[in-house]
Amino acid sequence: MATTFGDGTDVHAGAAGEFSLGGDLTIRRMGYGAMQLAGPGVWGPPRDRETALAVVRRALELGVNHIDTSDYYGPHVVNGIIKDAIHPYQDDLVIVTKVGARRTPEKDWPAALKPAELVQAVHDNLDHLGLDRIDVVNLRIVEEGGGLGPNDSIEEPFTALAELREQGLIRHLGVSNVTAAQFAEARTIAPVVCVQNEYNVVQRDDEELLRLCAAEGIAFMSFFPLGTYTLRHEKPAGQDAKVPLATPLDNRALDVVAERHGASAYQIALAWLLHRSPNLVCIPGTSSVAHLEQNIAAAAVRLTAEDLAELDTLQA
Ligand SMILES: NC(=O)c1ccc[n+]([C@@H]2O[C@H](COP(=O)([O-])OP(=O)(O)OC[C@H]3O[C@@H](n4cnc5c(N)ncnc54)[C@H](OP(=O)(O)O)[C@@H]3O)[C@@H](O)[C@H]2O)c1
Repeated sequence: MATTFGDGTDVHAGAAGEFSLGGDLTIRRMGYGAMQLAGPGVWGPPRDRETALAVVRRALELGVNHIDTSDYYGPHVVNGIIKDAIHPYQDDLVIVTKVGARRTPEKDWPAALKPAELVQAVHDNLDHLGLDRIDVVNLRIVEEGGGLGPNDSIEEPFTALAELREQGLIRHLGVSNVTAAQFAEARTIAPVVCVQNEYNVVQRDDEELLRLCAAEGIAFMSFFPLGTYTLRHEKPAGQDAKVPLATPLDNRALDVVAERHGASAYQIALAWLLHRSPNLVCIPGTSSVAHLEQNIAAAAVRLTAEDLAELDTLQA
């Protein structure tokens, strides 16, 4: 699997280009998602704390200036790793966090969307990241545990975050796991600078929302860019159980394109996202320095029209 391209030097995250978030934060489109830094099941401390710290530091060395996190990763573990690794933060670093869920001892992720829960979560993020103000807070809509479904209004929780923004604790707001109607509703309450929904080479349900965000100058941050859930599990209609699937990352179309570029299927999946739309921002997650380097190197892969046509056959 290639970690570098061309002359063998490290590829900088800047090879993917930049995006202006909210008009005042410039992020490189190849970012880093920190969820995998916690222990197995996004629970507890990492197996190897030194490696977790090294992953975060290496991301910045390779030009990443956008980290996606949450205080419910661990819970209360991942933000501490980020802080210990790189605080005080470099001036151009943008940390994007999310609120709206909590963890239970059973390692579930029920909703925590009541205003008081959201206020507490924002303060927890500030404390554990060591910040006076958070660059971006995404309201993550969660249905489990008495939360909000796709047809519900998000007025109450988004208004609570808008008030914290007015108080100066948050610079910009985003929304996550939302429908187009919920996105539109949020925008009537306060400016929205990003949407973070599941989207990858085989999960393209949000094409229309992606296009809408592009037209409005709003970032679309794809979660599960490598499709860890999408590609390996599905929920059969009417069932909650997760059924393992063969991962389309093993799919021949990805492999063919990967071979052509001397890259891995993972790198092609990330490169595809970066080619999809100029407002598409990648936050691949990893607990490994080697995987991080490979993922960032994907910023330099230039897909051809032929590659893109072949990858279109992967659409679910
Ligand atoms: N808003 C939301 O609701 C939401 C939901 C989920 C995630 N997120 C955010 O999105 C980010 C990305 O999601 P994710 O981490 O769940 O999924 P992902 O980026 O799609 O995939 C991560 C998985 O792929 C593996 N991996 C990564 N790079 C690899 C490589 N080059 N070669 C082989 N395996 C590789 C990782 O294992 P290793 O650790 O072994 O590399 C990990 O198991 C998260 O970190 C989080 O910040 C947001």
